[in-house]
Amino acid sequence: MFDPWFTLMVVVVVFPVGWLSIVSTPRIRRRVLANRIANSDLTSRAQEVFAAVKVVKANRAESRVFDRFSADSIRALDTAYFLRLDMALITLVVGLLAGSTLILSEYIMVSWIIDQRDTFLGALVASLIGFAVWNYGAYRIAMGQVAGFAFGMRGLLGIWMRMQDLFLALERAFFLLDIEPEVDDPENPLPFPIRVARVRWHNVVFGYNPDQPILRGIDLEAGAGSITAIVGATGSGKSTLMSLLLRLYDPDSGRIEVNDVDLKDMAVDDVRRHAAIALQKNVLFANTIANNIGFGNPTAEPAAIETAATIACAHDFIEAQSKGYNTELGERGAKLSAGQRQRLSIARAVLRDAPILILDEPTASLDAQTEQRVLTNLTTWGKDKVIFLITHRLSTIRNADQIAFLEDGRIVETGSHDELTRLENGRYRAFVETETVETSP
Ligand SMILES: Nc1ncnc2c1ncn2[C@@H]1O[C@H](COP(=O)(O)OP(=O)(O)O)[C@@H](O)[C@H]1O
Ligand SMILES: [Mg+2]
Repeated sequence: MFDPWFTLMVVVVVFPVGWLSIVSTPRIRRRVLANRIANSDLTSRAQEVFAAVKVVKANRAESRVFDRFSADSIRALDTAYFLRLDMALITLVVGLLAGSTLILSEYIMVSWIIDQRDTFLGALVASLIGFAVWNYGAYRIAMGQVAGFAFGMRGLLGIWMRMQDLFLALERAFFLLDIEPEVDDPENPLPFPIRVARVRWHNVVFGYNPDQPILRGIDLEAGAGSITAIVGATGSGKSTLMSLLLRLYDPDSGRIEVNDVDLKDMAVDDVRRHAAIALQKNVLFANTIANNIGFGNPTAEPAAIETAATIACAHDFIEAQSKGYNTELGERGAKLSAGQRQRLSIARAVLRDAPILILDEPTASLDAQTEQRVLTNLTTWGKDKVIFLITHRLSTIRNADQIAFLEDGRIVETGSHDELTRLENGRYRAFVETETVETSP
């Protein structure tokens, strides 16, 4: 006698809910997957951005990185939103169905019992028991749905909170790329000289913390067509000296000039456009080798990329990769050795073809012979460029046109290897002697 009602329940509740589950499960699963991928892409992109601030800034690629980063974060937000929306909608439909069925069935049951009461006492008892039993089941289903609803609401709350997290992370990334309190564009910037003849530090004082100067009166001049090796102990301020040339910071006092123009009188962007840098800890992106070399130069021709790679002694190992220049790097792509990564970053700097080239220990992981080859190539290629080289390897330093010895925040000696080794009690001479002792067997 419960058949009609069971049929009703099957038709109204079980069937639609079952159908809904079957239909929605793959959809939800897709959403979960998309959500997960988008989030992990966003996380790795955020990590890239944090690690890359210096490289990104020096390559003036802030806006491109922003675009990529915001596209990724929007995708992550979208997928999270659609996932939760789907879940909430399904919960809502199931809840509504179950709830309305419950009310409808109770109504039917009660009127059915009332109709039959006079006729069959047994039926009444049976139906009452059935009613109670069913009601208990229905109650549990309804409770489940109520809990589901609450869960859905919690889910919504969860999205909201995660969105807050995400916004916070975004704000942080943007903040890191944006802060340049020390560096201002002048109101009427002078153009960067078309032909760079020389770069000059004139009594430059600088400290990250003003009471703790790192550079205490730097005087240094470097001409076009020369390689200047900056030599000094770790922490002596070699990288800081180069950061000032990129206007990552401005001196506290003194000036840095290109020809006779103070860097401060030029636009920050203009200064960075004219200087390329390769670092020891260089940043490669999850992208193809070609695009990594072309990072500072998105319109570069493949031929130009190959030429730059050849100068950096990277062409041969790139060709040996599975897809050559189109080989993907990164977590899911090819892994390169430290020396190979450094050569890519040198190629990236070479491709920029800027009048000023800074090599801040990007040859540290190369063997002496490869470092020498890279330097020889750079000398030929950079005939009209001002090149600064920071390295600890004596065999390379001695070939530089000029050596600047940095100590206690000052450049204490400048000259060629021969000139400096002739100085009695010379600082560079002492350095050469310890190096020679250390590297001799
Ligand atoms: N971003 C920074 N903030 C504060 N201090 C820094 C920063 N970068 C470097 N320093 C400090 O400045 C000094 C010189 O560092 P650096 O120029 O990197 O030396 P080098 O390149 O010769 O090893 C070190 O004492 C270092 O701890
Ligand atoms: Mg350094």
